[in-house]
Amino acid sequence: MKRISWTEFTNLTVSDRIPHLGKENDPAEPFHVLYAQQFSRPVLDELCLLADHIRKLHKTKEGADFLRARLSHRTAMNLFAQPSTRTWMSFQLAEQNLGMPTSDIRDVSTSSQAKGETLQNSIRTFSSYVDLIVMRHPDRGAAELAAYEMNMADRRIPVFNGGSGQDQHPTQALLDIYTLQKSLGEIDGKKIAMVGDLMRGRTVRSLSYLMKNYKGVEIYYVAPERLRIGDDIKEFLKRQHIRYTESDNLEAIIPIVDAVYMTRIQWEWDKAAGATTQDAKYDPRFVFKKEYLGRMKQKSCLLHPLPKINEIDSELDYVEDARVVYWRQERNGMWIRAALIARVFDVDKEIMAHAAE
Ligand code: NCD
Repeated sequence: MKRISWTEFTNLTVSDRIPHLGKENDPAEPFHVLYAQQFSRPVLDELCLLADHIRKLHKTKEGADFLRARLSHRTAMNLFAQPSTRTWMSFQLAEQNLGMPTSDIRDVSTSSQAKGETLQNSIRTFSSYVDLIVMRHPDRGAAELAAYEMNMADRRIPVFNGGSGQDQHPTQALLDIYTLQKSLGEIDGKKIAMVGDLMRGRTVRSLSYLMKNYKGVEIYYVAPERLRIGDDIKEFLKRQHIRYTESDNLEAIIPIVDAVYMTRIQWEWDKAAGATTQDAKYDPRFVFKKEYLGRMKQKSCLLHPLPKINEIDSELDYVEDARVVYWRQERNGMWIRAALIARVFDVDKEIMAHAAE
């Protein structure tokens, strides 16, 4: 790995940083996973296929034992400095399903960072014990700093971004793509609505970046005025010639689109900025009402990265309808994360070969 200074690294554009995040012998192949922009179409397609095979193998004891033997000599650490249910749990189970013993820090006040140790020194320490670090942090840039530190260390281990502030959540975008592909058959040419807190929601940002890999996709961003999608994403879409429209009328869009991706309003950021009262009543224009389901196309799907609060009518949680996929979506996270780990640790081909037997 060519060593450059932190200032040089941060002055690079995201595309120019990508080779610094790749494997030693193949810089285009993701090693550290920080940004959705690191993923190409062939890699996405192969990860989805691998996730399918891992899912199938795991159904039998023989298959599950085979999977657990793949990485039983490697260990993983999950460092979550922000609340998490699904990302943490699905990463932990993905690691364990491949045989990796795991260590978890879910409260940094119990680690030496509370004594003033820098994030870089903590990461260097963890990396002397484990072979993979998955981290979630409230600050954008924390995962970059960790990955950079690993590039400077003798023992370079991969760092996966499990959510960085309001910036990105690349592995969530992978499971969203996997779910869209399984539900719709293909993503090319599809119309996708992304609804809710588009300003602070990192999942919609990462998912928007992944759309560069699909032909003829059209995005409908539906958000309250103050929570609209960032200009940086709009600039990106323009450069990639991806069509998008902004709207505040979810109801009108329901019959047109192939997928609706709901998100919650992230009140915690308002609170951190000093707000004392939550928007008294959730704006009903951004709620997916029960009757909308019947107005969706026959082959379409309703997604949500979860957690959800009141932006989807809770009666839909119990409806048996192939279009309601958010519960399946969270389980998909475990399979695609296992696929990603398998690929980064180069055991993907042996899993594919075993699945073909
Ligand atoms: C999201 C997150 O943390 O960014 N959740 C998740 O990882 N599934 C979305 C959210 O918190 O609203």
